[in-house]
Formats: sequence, C-alpha cells, structure tokens
Amino acid sequence: MHRRPKSIGAMANTHFPLLFQPIRIGRLESKNRLLMSAMSIHFGVDERGHVTEQLTRYMEARAQGGVGMMLVGGGGVHPTGVELPHLPALWEDDCIPSLTKMAQAVKPHDTLLGMQLMHGGRQSYHDLKVAPSAIPAPALAKGIPRALRLDEIPVMAAAFGDAARRCRDAGLDFIEVHGAHGYLISQFLAPNSNRRNDRYGGSFENRTRFMLEVLEDIRRKCGPDFTVGIRMNGEDYIEGGWGLEEALRLAPLLEQAGADYLHVSAGVYGSRQLTIPSMYVEHGCFIHLAEAVKRTVAIPVVAVGRIKRPEMAEGILRDRKADMVALGRSLLADPQWPNKVKHGSLRSIRPCIGCCLGCIHAVFQLEPGGCVVNPDVGREYLLPQAVEPAAAPRRCLVVGSGPAGLAAARMLALRGHAVTLCDQQAETGGALRLAAKPPGRSELMDILNYFAAELAGLAVDLRLNCAVTAELLQEVDPEEVILATGSLPDTPMIKGLLRTGMQVGTVTEVLAGVQAAGAHVLVWGGNQAALVLADDLAAKGKNVVVLNRRDHFAEDMSSNDRYYLRERLKRGGIVLHKNVQIHSFLEDGVDFSSSGRRQELRGFDTVVLADTFVSLREAANLTKGRPARVHFIGDAKQPRHLMYAISEGEELGRAL
Ligand SMILES: Cc1cc2nc3c(=O)[nH]c(=O)nc-3n(C[C@H](O)[C@H](O)[C@H](O)COP(=O)(O)O)c2cc1C
Ligand code: SF4
Repeated sequence: MHRRPKSIGAMANTHFPLLFQPIRIGRLESKNRLLMSAMSIHFGVDERGHVTEQLTRYMEARAQGGVGMMLVGGGGVHPTGVELPHLPALWEDDCIPSLTKMAQAVKPHDTLLGMQLMHGGRQSYHDLKVAPSAIPAPALAKGIPRALRLDEIPVMAAAFGDAARRCRDAGLDFIEVHGAHGYLISQFLAPNSNRRNDRYGGSFENRTRFMLEVLEDIRRKCGPDFTVGIRMNGEDYIEGGWGLEEALRLAPLLEQAGADYLHVSAGVYGSRQLTIPSMYVEHGCFIHLAEAVKRTVAIPVVAVGRIKRPEMAEGILRDRKADMVALGRSLLADPQWPNKVKHGSLRSIRPCIGCCLGCIHAVFQLEPGGCVVNPDVGREYLLPQAVEPAAAPRRCLVVGSGPAGLAAARMLALRGHAVTLCDQQAETGGALRLAAKPPGRSELMDILNYFAAELAGLAVDLRLNCAVTAELLQEVDPEEVILATGSLPDTPMIKGLLRTGMQVGTVTEVLAGVQAAGAHVLVWGGNQAALVLADDLAAKGKNVVVLNRRDHFAEDMSSNDRYYLRERLKRGGIVLHKNVQIHSFLEDGVDFSSSGRRQELRGFDTVVLADTFVSLREAANLTKGRPARVHFIGDAKQPRHLMYAISEGEELGRAL
C-alpha cells in the first residue's frame, strides 16, 4: 500500500476539516479529498505522444500545490481513438520511460498521480474514427465514424488493459477509465450513439458490456491491487442519451467489477448542459448526480463541475453528497488552491472565472491549453520556481488599473520595484468592471477582487481619481512608465450618425450608467461587448436590435461561454442581424442591408456603439522629453481580450 508520512494527514485544518482528511481509494491513501480532474491540456508531448518536460513540470506544479490525487488527461489507448493531436499516446511500451520520469518527478510531493485512459470514438479529431455505430457526433468532431466490427470490440477493450498495465509499470499510482462525455465507452452506453443489434447494443446489459469488459481486462492485466477509477456520466443531457436512471443501475455493477472509485460527470459534445460549463452556469451544477450515485455504492464517489469555492467543496463532504471533490479549471487558474485553502489564505486564490477561453476553447482550436487568468500554464518548465527579485529595483508608474495594469503592478511590486499605480476612475478594474455588470458576468469580478487583495498586501502606491499629469510624472519621477490605459469604442464614419435624432452612446457609457438607453435600442456591433450589453438591456425590458457587420456573433468569446449567452438571447426582446451594411442612420432608425436584403427599421430612441475599439494612448505624450522608458500593455497596445491583458502585464512585470 502507498504510504504517506503520518504527520501530514494528522495535521488538523480548522478552516476546512473535512477537505483535508485522508481517504482510502482502493489500496491507496490520498492525503486529502481533492482530485485534479483529467484535462486534455494539449501540450507537453512529443511527436510520438511521449510526455515531455513541459507536461511533467505542469503536473509537478499542481502536485506542489497540495492536491491529493491528480490525473493526466486524454491518454489515448489506441490510434483510432485519438481525441486531439497533442495528447499522451499509450498504445506502445515505448511510452513508459517518459511516464516513469513524470511519476518520479511527482513522487516527492506526496500526491497520487494517475492517468485517464480514453478512446475518443466518434469524438476523435481525425478520419480513422470508429464507434459502436456509424453515427456522427452531434457537434464539434466532423465526419462519420466507421462502426466497429464485432471482432474489433475485444481489441479495443484490450487496448485499455494494455495501456493501464503500461501506466502501472511506469510507476503511476492509479488510472481512471474515461467512460463519460460521449467518448467511445459512453457511446456504447447511450442509445443515441449505439444502434448495434449484437451483444453490445440494445438492452442495458448489452450497452454496458463494453465498459465492464474494459474493467475486466484492466483487472486481469494489472491485478487486484492497482487502483482503478471510472469516470461516468450521471446525465448526457442530450436527446436519446444516457441518463441518471441507468447510471444508478450501472454504478453497483462497476463496484462489483472492481472499480475503486466512481467520478460522476455529465454532458457530451453538443449537449444542452456542457461538460465544461461557463460562468453562466451555477456552481456545483453536477453535484446532484454524484449524490445520487453515492447512494448506490460503498466505494468513494467524486463530484465535479464548477466547484471552485472551498466552502462549497467542504459542504459537499459535510452533507455526504460525495467523498471527494474534483477540481479542474480551478487548478489551472491556481495550482496552489489546496495549500491556500489548507492555510486559510482564501483571498490569495487566483480564481477561475469560468470564461473557458484560455483552456477548453484553445484546446478545441487545436492550440495548447492555457488560462486567461494564469499565464504560467504550460510555461512552468520555462519559469523560475519562485518570482525572482529585480536585479536593480526601479521607480515604476503604472497608468490604468484594469487587468493589465493590475497584473503588471502586482508582479513589479513582488519583484521589489517601487510601484505607483494611478487611475482616473474612483475604483480599480477599468473596462472589466463594466464587463462584469450584465447578467451572468459577475464572476469576472473575482479576478479583480483577487488583484485588489494582492495589491493590498504589497507596497503599491495606489492612487484612484488620479489622472496622469505632468505634475504626477514630476512627483513620481518614474524610470519606467507602463501605460495600461485600455481602449474605448470607436465612432464609425457612417452616414447620418451625427445628424440622427436618436441618443448616441457607447457600450462603455451605457454600462457605466453615464448614458441612459431608451426603450428601443439599436446596438452596432456583434462582438462579446455588444451581445452582453444587448442581454443586459433586454433583461431591463428594452427592445434591442443588434446590427453585426460580420458573419458570426461573439467570435471573441469561447464557444462554451457563447453557447449559454446564445440561449439567453433566444428568450426574447432581442433581434440579431448579421452581415449588415448600414447605408444610413435615420432620424429614429436605420437603413441597412443584411445578407443582401435592404430594410429600414424605425421607432428607436438610442444607438449604442460597440463594434470596434481604439487604444487610449494619449498619456504617452506627457512622457515626451522625460528619461523614462514607456511600455504599452493590454488594450492600450491593441484592443484584445482579457488573456492578453493579464499575460502582458505579468510578462512585463517579470521582464523589468
Ligand atoms: C482544457 C480542458 C480539458 C479537459 N479534458 C478532459 C479530459 O481529457 N477528460 C475528462 O474526463 N474531462 C476533461 N475535461 C473536463 C474536466 O475534467 C472537468 O470535468 C470540467 O472542467 C468541469 O470541472 P471544473 O468546473 O472544475 O473545471 C477538460 C476540461 C478542460 C478545461
Ligand atoms: S481560461 Fe477561464 S475558464 Fe479556463 S481555467 Fe482559466 S479562468 Fe478558468
């Protein structure tokens, strides 16, 4: 049995006593009740799919953060089931040495390391896809899979067993079988993807046969002592999919077949409720599924899904809804989440904001996964273990306290520079504070609150209601001026805009409340800012028409976040037009063509401009003739989304 030093488990935690209680999982003991769920992070493997130092250091950083158990995501068991190109490949023994290196790197941190084993089935990205039946995935993965022949099914089950044996031989502590999220095993389970009429299709017994054979094969090859968990869906949330009733029948069968824990998740590609929900979805959205499964088995059950607050995690254990809590994105945003919770430093947790942009959106774009609020993800192997003090501390003036300015000020101060941060507004946050106002967007404030708490503990001279002036420059006498002054909506040169009888304002002015919107509003723009504003106005009872000159809406959002926004926009009060060319604004409306059809709309009292943004860089003029070096970061450099703002702020903070 894997042993921990006794003193660690014995340490009482007064803040969250249950989260930090050890738990036995199969033959293992986890030092706490926290599991990092598998995330196909899409970096850190070489061209053969062997783990590199990049993935090892990324995992090691999470182990250093104190999580009890953690999983590498997306370990492919067979070449036909590769979900995405840059994930670990486990179908040959030559994967073992690099896995061993990872296991050895993690071992000293007293975190149990596991691999999730998956076969993507019809949700694989390539053309060699196989599935129980030749039915395409409802979303994302293109192409029709080939239906597996009867004789191929045991080959697939054996691929799981072989991959598990390789993980065991490499020294990993456990594996988790991916039986959820619409991948191969879950395709066998769900009637809408399994139309077979042999012993693997039709009845409940037949549809669950493949999963049980996978488990049997793993047990045969790895023995009874190796710890094997199963990830299963409590609900597919899709027409004709797998549901809770059947999940509750399956759970005891998995327990009898030797599963050591059950990890209950939900959703498939194209489902109503997404597996990786965005900020629009309530925290802990799948806990009820884990709770129901827990009532049917004695083995530990893991709950997952937007569990980011330690109070909620502790509550799940206290109310016996689950035995362990899985964190996914919270550990991307802050690998130190467990240690910080353990020591009661909750305000120092860098929070996931549920945007899905840097992580799953990037991954599905076949880019390396990252995190909007944590630019270190995937760069752990390049960065020093701790922030390095500046060789020569300098006087730095950061202008603008939006996310870019806050991130820069924090990093500069951490490194020992003398930092003055000024903002002409009365509060920090810049445009992000406004972006957090529309319905469902308030989680954006979490990252601002994090930075505010960080700055409060650092020697940053924060000056609010303070515009940058020649006098300020004289007084601070900065050696480095960091302009994080953001951007503002641009006024387009469209005929009639200056003469219209409608009120004309910008999205910034309307959200800030300095410009009121009437009952009938035209919004010019189809990006995230325009759409969340439209949602906000509709929620306040206004009629809104959105005019988007592009073919698509909110392309600057992650697809997961956009999905929930789109559902909200369908609720009424909003009409969307795309491919719009405005011929002229009228006294009370607009004359435009949309997808080639010309029309006039009248009866409006307000036009809100939200299409394009321009950088605010005027403050740079004041620095002319001064010896200071000037740097532009975030939107002041070029209007883009939050990920750039925070990463550029931190990057500059590290560089100076
Ligand atoms: C980038 C990314 C990749 C993911 N890949 C996997 C995966 O390979 N296997 C899996 O079971 N879940 C995967 N997930 C889902 C997570 O394990 C988790 O269930 C989900 O993010 C919800 O938990 P959270 O709200 O704590 O992030 C992934 C999530 C993200 C963000
Ligand atoms: S990119 Fe957004 S959703 Fe993903 S982990 Fe980071 S903050 Fe969370």
